[in-house]
Amino acid sequence: MIKVVRGMRDLFGAEIATWHRLEDIFRSLPARFGYQEFRTPIVESADLFRRGVGEETDIVGKEMYTFEDRGGDSLTLRPEMTAPIVRAAIEHTLLRHQPTTRLWYYGPLFRYERPQKGRYRQFHQFGAELLGSPHPEADAEIIMLAAETIREVGLQNITLQINTLGISEERSAYRAALVSYLEDHVHDLSEDSKRRLQHNPLRVLDSKDEGDRRIVVNAPVLFNYLEAASKQHFETVLAILSSAGISFTIEHRLVRGLDYYSHTVFEFVSNDLGAQNTVCGGGRYDPLFALLGGGDVPAVGFSFGVERLVLLMEELASKGSQGSEDLYICAINEEARLPAQLLALRLRRAGFVVHVDVQRRSMKAQMKEADKIGVRATLVLGEEELRDQTVTIKDMVGGQQTSVPLSQLESHLHQALKA
Ligand code: HAM
Repeated sequence: MIKVVRGMRDLFGAEIATWHRLEDIFRSLPARFGYQEFRTPIVESADLFRRGVGEETDIVGKEMYTFEDRGGDSLTLRPEMTAPIVRAAIEHTLLRHQPTTRLWYYGPLFRYERPQKGRYRQFHQFGAELLGSPHPEADAEIIMLAAETIREVGLQNITLQINTLGISEERSAYRAALVSYLEDHVHDLSEDSKRRLQHNPLRVLDSKDEGDRRIVVNAPVLFNYLEAASKQHFETVLAILSSAGISFTIEHRLVRGLDYYSHTVFEFVSNDLGAQNTVCGGGRYDPLFALLGGGDVPAVGFSFGVERLVLLMEELASKGSQGSEDLYICAINEEARLPAQLLALRLRRAGFVVHVDVQRRSMKAQMKEADKIGVRATLVLGEEELRDQTVTIKDMVGGQQTSVPLSQLESHLHQALKA
């Protein structure tokens, strides 16, 4: 048997309704903040991520699906969306037309990671990018949009962790101090962290290894190496968040796994998800446009992992489920089959969700199916109903039966379903 590729998932059944509810939020919420949707291809040139995300990151080093196409070009299934958005903004000179450009996106991404709950090889992100402002108000707006997303989805138990990485010159001075400290403890570091110490020492700070964590607790703190301007930027972001009633914890060891960040970085972390508990990650990435040949354009953004939102929503839903408004049309005899199918079409045109039998099943089997689907009401058509131009409505919640003239059916159903 050929099976779905490891780390990838088929989406179907009840879970689809959860995705639809999220997609409704993605389409309406960013629009209220003035963001427009942007769609890019799933495949990009491999160089985009090597240059944009950074050669030393896990994503580029070991997680990309990269292949040569028939023309010999090296292509990659996109592992993240920020570099493609910046590529597109440069290519279409978006900033020339709109010096502050607000974009959102939603779509599949690919990373060759070890699969586990909340971590897949094909996953989806919903994200937003605010291009063109160097000011803390932009960082705050992006964090507000992420926080509103969490509020609209209805999630609780989520913590915002926030930090600042300053600018590259400040990090160089800090890196030297950090490396010197870590070298004194090199024998006790995990193998991963020993490797990172060579290429990307700041990543040692957010190692999940217990031994590493004990060492890192006493490591020098980046914030103390920042100049006044960087500190001021961060403090203004925090002040705006506080005024907006958004609570946060400052997490000095939060560095994030991508190389393009400067100043603010943040993550929204759930207490209900197990190991893969970050539902949203983001930050300011002022260096990225220049890395991709787009000059000096400051920018900030975030991405949510949609599978993780779905997991959390399903937990919420299991605590209180919503009722269905579907209808089932049941044909009692052969003569009623065509009228039943035509009535289904009429009601679907009027906006109802209608199920009807196409297996020529008995009335009993149809009623059983209606029950299994969990419809709100079953509409019965038989000899009597056809003769009198009526339909018998069986309310599947209350159990009562009503005979309604066909001519008044839609208005009756609107009333009854609302009740
Ligand atoms: P990231 O932290 O790599 O950031 O990913 C953002 C979110 O995507 C994660 O917090 C997680 O919820 C989800 N995610 C990542 N990998 C997986 C996976 N293998 N399976 C399921 N979910 C996953 C970025 O991608 C940046 N582009 C965020 C950003 C936007 N920064 C600025 N603008």
